[in-house]
Amino acid sequence: MALLKIARMGHPVLARRADPVEDPTDPLIHLLVNDMIETMHDASGIGLAAPQVHVPKRVVVFYVPPSRTDDNDGVALTVLINPVIEALTEDMSLGVEGCLSVPGMAGRVPRYTKIRYSAMLPNGEQLIREADGYHARVVQHECDHLDGILYPMRMEDLSSFGYSDELQKAEQEGETETDDG
Ligand code: NI
Repeated sequence: MALLKIARMGHPVLARRADPVEDPTDPLIHLLVNDMIETMHDASGIGLAAPQVHVPKRVVVFYVPPSRTDDNDGVALTVLINPVIEALTEDMSLGVEGCLSVPGMAGRVPRYTKIRYSAMLPNGEQLIREADGYHARVVQHECDHLDGILYPMRMEDLSSFGYSDELQKAEQEGETETDDG
């Protein structure tokens, strides 16, 4: 296990389309996944995509804290290999996002409110899930990394883009806490 260096916005590895993984059961992929999980927890993030650790492959790890789901169950740590997202609605909602590759900053980003996603798991099985709300947001954020897209590129109103501590000071109420993914 090893902590990996996190690429920051501006590094070319974050701007390119990542390559598909040929064999999800490859021990080298499992090593990468384990290091990504350790790196994500060390950085206090809730999601991490392989390009963020300078590996241009279609691999994502994430979890959803219990406080971020209506049923308070959260979503357990999940590994997605070659994920594909399908929007199940045209409805989008704005929510605050942060990113380990854009440290210290946050902004309001529109995301589909309901999606279906499928992916390969490290054991070679296929995962298919539906997600809404924050869960759907996290998956869309992480999978965007695989296509070279960072959340500021999704923002329609850059007036809400700023340093997260300043934004939290400015907001009187509501969910101002930001997770990094
Ligand atoms: Ni991110």
